[in-house]
This record gives sequence, structure tokens and C-alpha cells, in this order.
Amino acid sequence: MASFEVLMPLPGMPEIAERLERRVTLHKLWQAADREATLAAIAPNIRAVVSTWATARVDAELMRRLPKLEIVVGFGVGYDHIDAAWAGRHGIVVTHTPGVLDEDVADIAIALTLAATRRLPQAERHLREGRWPNGAFPLTASLHGRVMGVLGLGRIGKAIARRAEAFGLSIAYHGRHEQDGVAYHYYPTPLALAEACDILMVAAPGGPETLHVVDAGVLAALGRDGVLINIARGSLVDEAALIAALKDGVILAAGLEVYEHEPSVPAELIALDNAVLLPHVGSATRHTRAAMANLVVDNLLSWVDGEGPLTPTPETPWRR
Ligand code: 8YV
Repeated sequence: MASFEVLMPLPGMPEIAERLERRVTLHKLWQAADREATLAAIAPNIRAVVSTWATARVDAELMRRLPKLEIVVGFGVGYDHIDAAWAGRHGIVVTHTPGVLDEDVADIAIALTLAATRRLPQAERHLREGRWPNGAFPLTASLHGRVMGVLGLGRIGKAIARRAEAFGLSIAYHGRHEQDGVAYHYYPTPLALAEACDILMVAAPGGPETLHVVDAGVLAALGRDGVLINIARGSLVDEAALIAALKDGVILAAGLEVYEHEPSVPAELIALDNAVLLPHVGSATRHTRAAMANLVVDNLLSWVDGEGPLTPTPETPWRR
């Protein structure tokens, strides 16, 4: 029987390749001396792509070159770097890793909320730089009693909301539609949500539909005591408008772990004292990354065994 040939453009967690190599022929494109020539040679036989990082796009251009492609398995709950709509129209399944990273990402969302509101990194710098003996760190805003507006109340948004309630925040939300059985107040637009809340928590999927949903108008509506937190995708926030809003005091502060062109972060953003910036670490714990790696492999091996994908994306629902 011909072996099942799989393309892996970039390295990932070591266990992904280790487990897959026991069952399939894995082409590690990053190791090829001439990637283009290697891809051209193997493309006719590739039946699956393993997408480990968002920096390697799996777009229509790549998928068109792989005539036998059946499945793309993605590492991450977000898959805006994979053209799942195109895949769905062409009978290709796309999987992602929902459910296994919600709690760690929600922890980072709350950590950023506290850090940006209480200015924790700035206070620590005050101590480390020896400024404390010359004066106390300035007073900050407080968190309790305020309203958190969750933009995108999916699994991660709900895990954040549960934690925020324990911190004495009340919750409102916006999403594509109002959800049955959810007690939080629903607002029909991001603008209405921003007007009604103090902490705007961005937790919706990236991609063309949500591009720049947080723009200058939404930031103005959030207001001068408002705090923006983004743990979703940089593409949801107009970064230039955010930099201007932070500079001009249109909003109070921001806590970010995702950026429009990551891993490159604008120098202007880095220079701002009212922004707390993390390098996309929401799911970056050993436990969660191992669970994500396992789900990537389990999706592919289930497919190879004829059992179908475990966690397909909504754009490519699986019908046996
Ligand atoms: C990962 C993420 O860091 O799951 C996601 O959508 O953003 C993170 O958990 C990322 O997917 C790794 O590519």
C-alpha cells in the first residue's frame, strides 16, 4: 500500500513529528535545501498538510498545487492563516484545536487586564530602577465594579467572563448573534458594546470578517477610562488607531498579546508607557501546548484510519 504523504512546512512541537513519523511519510519542508524544488517534486502525492504556525499560510495558492490534498490539520484554535472557506468548497477538511487551550488563554487575559489596569509592569520597573525611595508609585485605576465587554463570547470568551465575575466585574458581550441561555447583556454592535463597557476584551476569531472591528470609533466610544485587551488576533484591532488612541489619551491603557504583523511589533507601541505587551503567550504552557500537539496528531491519524476528523472547523463540517 502506498504510504500516506504529509507536508509539514515548518517545525512544531517535537512530539508532532515523532508521533506522525511512525505512521506516515512526513516531508519536513523547512529542512529542504531548495524548498521550491522539493515542494514541486512532492506536491502530486501530498494528502495532508500539518500547519504548525500562523506564519506559514495555507492559502488557495498552496492548496491548488496539491491535487491529492484531503486534509489540513492546524495547531491552534484560530485558523485565519488557513483558507478554510476555499478548502470547504474544494472538499478538503480543515481541523483546529478547540477546547484544550481555553483556561490558559483566559488566565493570560485576566493577567493582562490586571497588569494594564493596575500598571503592574510599570510598578515593577519603578522598584527595579530604584525609583521607590524617591517617591511612591502613582495611584492607578481599579478593576472591581467595572463592566467588561467581551467581543466574541465563545469558549475562551466565556472562560474569561467566569474569571472576571470573580474579580467583581459585570459582563456584557457582542458576537454575531445573541446567545440563548446566556445571562450577560448583549449589544448588537462592537460600538454599542464599547460605549457600555470599561474593559473591552477582544476574544473573537480573526480573518476578513472581523478585520479592524476595533477601530478609531470603537476606541473613542470605550473612552478615556477605558482599557482594551486583545488575546485573539492582531487583525481585529486597527493598530495605528490604537497607537494614536493610547498616545492621545483617548483610552487609558491596553494589554495586548497579539499584533497585526507579529512577531514584529511597532516601535511606537513599544515606546508607549500605557501599553502592556506580551509575545503571544496565551496558550504557551507545557501542558496546553502538549494537548494541542496531541490533538493535531489525533486528528490526522483518525483521518488516516478512515474515522474522519475529530475537530473539524465549521467551514469544513464532516459528513461520513
Ligand atoms: C497559538 C493561538 O499560539 O490557538 C490559537 O489560536 O493563537 C495560540 O494558541 C497559535 O495558534 C500557534 O500558532
